[in-house]
Amino acid sequence: MRFAITAAALLVSAVADGSAQEVRDPGERAFLQCYSCHSVQAGETKGLQGPNLSGIVGRPIAAQPGFKYSPAMRAFAKEQGFWSPALLDRFIAEPEHVVPGTAMSGYPGLADNHARKALMEFLKSH
Ligand code: HEC
Repeated sequence: MRFAITAAALLVSAVADGSAQEVRDPGERAFLQCYSCHSVQAGETKGLQGPNLSGIVGRPIAAQPGFKYSPAMRAFAKEQGFWSPALLDRFIAEPEHVVPGTAMSGYPGLADNHARKALMEFLKSH
């Protein structure tokens, strides 16, 4: 009986440890602000309002086949070409300021420098 109680206590503490380890890395946590509209899983677009962001760092701007980009984003693509890390960082900080008229206006931007740095690392690795 005593053994059973100890085993149960061990099980409870193991479960508690497991959930503690699930704390996401800061970049992934920042991406939670994006993932209602975007996916970083290659090819996943279903039900999402924004384009897929797999490999976005260094990718040509507005390049997802079949996605209806705003005229503002298409014009910006002609001007700038591709998402350099610096350009992407600025866009995420202030979307409407960097691409006036973008359809991403539902998202106000991520002003926090630390969170944005972590998010950039997350995007680079996906
Ligand atoms: C409310 C929905 C929404 C949220 C939240 C959102 N976006 Fe977007 N995003 C969009 C839409 C819509 C577009 C297409 C913009 C256009 O065509 O003007 C877009 C476009 C983009 C693009 C350009 C992609 C390409 O193919 O060139 C990037 C990069 C991007 N978003 C990153 C982010 C990041 C990073 C976050 C979170 C910090 C985020 N977005 C949050 C809706 C959203």
